[in-house]
Amino acid sequence: MLYSIIVSAGLERIARDELTQRFDDTGHLKILDRRPQRLLFRYTGNPNDLLSLRTAEHLFLVLKHIGKMTRSRGSLAALSGPLARFNFKEAFECCRQVGLNVRRRMPFRVTSRLSGKRNFRRLDLQQVVERVFLDRGWYLANSKAALDVWAEVHGDDGYISIKLSKNDMAQRPYKQAHIPASLKPTIAYSMVRLSRPHPKDVFLDAMCGAGTILLERALIDRYDYLIGGDISTEALDATVTNFGRKHQPRQFFHWDARTLPIQSNTVDKIVCNLPFGETIGNVPQLTNLYRQSLKEYERVLKPRGRIVLLTSQRGLLDSELKQRGFLRATQQLTVDVRGMRAWIYVIRFA
Ligand SMILES: C[S@@+](CC[C@H](N)C(=O)[O-])C[C@H]1O[C@@H](n2cnc3c(N)ncnc32)[C@H](O)[C@@H]1O
Repeated sequence: MLYSIIVSAGLERIARDELTQRFDDTGHLKILDRRPQRLLFRYTGNPNDLLSLRTAEHLFLVLKHIGKMTRSRGSLAALSGPLARFNFKEAFECCRQVGLNVRRRMPFRVTSRLSGKRNFRRLDLQQVVERVFLDRGWYLANSKAALDVWAEVHGDDGYISIKLSKNDMAQRPYKQAHIPASLKPTIAYSMVRLSRPHPKDVFLDAMCGAGTILLERALIDRYDYLIGGDISTEALDATVTNFGRKHQPRQFFHWDARTLPIQSNTVDKIVCNLPFGETIGNVPQLTNLYRQSLKEYERVLKPRGRIVLLTSQRGLLDSELKQRGFLRATQQLTVDVRGMRAWIYVIRFA
């Protein structure tokens, strides 16, 4: 079967790595294409396996994909027409496997997405696809739909798919307590992957907020020790709530990341979502925070250690990194954080 996952902008390569690492040696996976915010692949295993992908926001079963969409209305017919004769046997089996209630007379709805200049509107795309399924005897049922059909046209690509995931695919059950600038778990997971987790890791998030990064680290693989801290007691309380009794050994501190009560050369990995955007105070305060905390990171990190940081203050981080003799950025990824452009930096102890 042909599937696609939607991921946050900038995480496509990490999502591809996750898919490959998890499913390549099953012999069931063949990745076909990587597009902005999307991966397209064939998978012959149980689709429930795919629902546990930690980078994905949505999982779709693709009924029809064409890579030659043009501006013209004619390409709409090319996309939707083949569905009139489509054999749904395997597709319905796949839907059943993830718990969708498929029937002969199917209640459905169509969600449409369109980008780029076209001689048709989003509504035209939606109606053409609705018509195909109405002609098969299905009926439109918005809130009580058993199948959520997505019709999408982006660039040269057109997709008609069934959404297999629920809206909470990218949410995590551990996230009971929240703080305002809390990080999306999919981004936290991706940052943790970039730190190259190792079972012997002493892992630090010195501005841990609600603990999202620490929890994604705890869940990805074994570790030696987790250390988290924050200047806000409210944030620390959220971390403690979200951890509950699980994931030992770990320790949380109410601290200022500019003076860490940690011995030098003792931490293997530091992953941190630095304050930025609306959460920042004034520029001198932020400059001081970046300068002093980087100095501390450099001090506590073991040689050959790794730091992964997220910020939208690229200029500031670049200029502060230049001041640090032993830290060298080896990779930068542009990502979208709540509609704001931000960068994930991978930094090595040089
Ligand atoms: C962007 S948030 C981190 C969000 C976190 N990754 C999450 O998902 O919940 C930044 C955090 O840095 C903390 N912070 C700001 N200044 C700090 C400092 N000097 N020392 C320690 N923590 C600080 C804030 O209290 C806030 O919780």
